[in-house]
Amino acid sequence: MSSYKIIKPDPEAACLEAAKNFLRLAHQCVEQKGEFSVALAGGSTPKKFYQILSQAPYSTSIPWGKMRVFFGDERAVAPDHPDSNYGMANQNLFKKISIDPLHVHRISAELPPEQAAEAYHTILKTFLPSNDAGIPVIDLVILGLGDDGHVASLFPGTEILDVEDKTAAPVWVEKKNSWRISLTFPIINSAENVWMMVTGEGKNDIVDRIFNYPSVSDPLPVERVNPQSEVIWYLDEAAANWVR
Ligand code: 6PG
Repeated sequence: MSSYKIIKPDPEAACLEAAKNFLRLAHQCVEQKGEFSVALAGGSTPKKFYQILSQAPYSTSIPWGKMRVFFGDERAVAPDHPDSNYGMANQNLFKKISIDPLHVHRISAELPPEQAAEAYHTILKTFLPSNDAGIPVIDLVILGLGDDGHVASLFPGTEILDVEDKTAAPVWVEKKNSWRISLTFPIINSAENVWMMVTGEGKNDIVDRIFNYPSVSDPLPVERVNPQSEVIWYLDEAAANWVR
């Protein structure tokens, strides 16, 4: 994984830096292609990022009308459930900006997991351009990082890690005792840009391991995130105090 680290004093500063780059990338994509597609993540750092985007100057300067929003993963709950990633993004972002709801493609996680994943695979194929391998290409995939090295709902030791023929799949997560639906590695690694948004002391050990003790023989899910472009890491000092 080729990566570039941006380390700021605190989560707010890290998310502000991401917001500035989000604004720049959105305008760049809209100018080049007329549209900007992004897959949002769940989690505490992405939530703070959405809160910043929901406020001026970002709420008024990002070309929301030219955006298509997708999700990296979803818990197997209804959109109004407190655990819903869509629900979190809706409360912290969509309700506060002028985005076409038809351009917000949530995962219908209230359906049976297999059906929800198949439906999302179809949505991704329908609303995104595909590359030469026939894989839909998202302009920006935003990911959080679990302290076990999971990204989206690609948890260590789960079968979804080996899915190659689908862009979205269901996954039973034993440690969460719940089903989830997640993007798979093929679509994440076909994205034009992938950002990791990771803050807090609780992530220090896993981030230290990834950067200083990378596992080649048995890579963590996050170590299998390997798009064409550099993965940009938005970190705070608490999560990256090991940086030498
Ligand atoms: C989810 C996310 C998940 C999250 C990480 C980090 O559905 O929860 O997609 O991958 O980003 O678990 O979450 P925190 O930032 O809250 O630790």
